[in-house]
Amino acid sequence: MPINSPSVAIHLRGLRQRFGEQTVLDDIDLDVPAGTTLALLGPSGCGKSTLLKLLAGLLQPDGGRVMFGDQTVADPTRCVPPEARDLGMVFQDYALWPHMTVAGNVSFPLEMRGVPRAARVAAVAQALSRVGLEHLAARRPSALSGGQQQRVALARAIVARPRVLLFDEPLSNLDAQLRATLCDDVRTLLAQLGTTAVYVTHDRNEADALAHTIVTLAHGRVVETVNR
Ligand SMILES: Nc1ncnc2c1ncn2[C@@H]1O[C@H](COP(=O)(O)OP(=O)(O)OP(=O)(O)O)[C@@H](O)[C@H]1O
Ligand SMILES: [Mg+2]
Repeated sequence: MPINSPSVAIHLRGLRQRFGEQTVLDDIDLDVPAGTTLALLGPSGCGKSTLLKLLAGLLQPDGGRVMFGDQTVADPTRCVPPEARDLGMVFQDYALWPHMTVAGNVSFPLEMRGVPRAARVAAVAQALSRVGLEHLAARRPSALSGGQQQRVALARAIVARPRVLLFDEPLSNLDAQLRATLCDDVRTLLAQLGTTAVYVTHDRNEADALAHTIVTLAHGRVVETVNR
């Protein structure tokens, strides 16, 4: 897997997801042009995380398809696994591995991709410097603040230069001031990297700051699309 994958457009066509009797996503059509950021807004339970899981390959759709460029990565008959989709993810709860150092956490996606050691060391140093954490490479996550932990998660998501980045409310565990600072940093990073990104948030200010397109979901459907 290359460390410098070109970003790729995402297309969703007629995407549908049910859980038992409940239709959570109903006939979703969406396009995210390569290199742009789409923010997903909407009330709790409207299906934002479900849509992100379908993009990530953590769920297989009941109907419709997910395309990365011209490649169908999921439909009801097939599902490319997450590790084969060339993506990075950042979650609300950081999800760092506690037994590994900061550098070990950030290096892990590269090890999974079989990147040789010297290239890993260089890429980890670069990713940590992009999030301002070079000096904490040898620490364990338990010795970091929440904001620092989320920076590590960010570095881990970008270190392999994936073609798609997915964010699920990455800043909502942080206090307001830290949220604003990190939001600025994420915006700068996305602009520098030019990666295609989907960013789930409850916070319209974050969506305004980060996204080229803001999509609002309600009752499993797209109810508003704003291009900025
Ligand atoms: N694995 C599952 N099994 C059954 N129901 C589920 C499952 N995952 C999600 N749901 C249901 O699907 C609906 C959408 O959930 P989802 O997590 O996508 O919402 P959300 O928009 O991310 O909400 P929030 O803003 O609170 O994170 C909810 O009603 C939820 O209970
Ligand atoms: Mg959610």
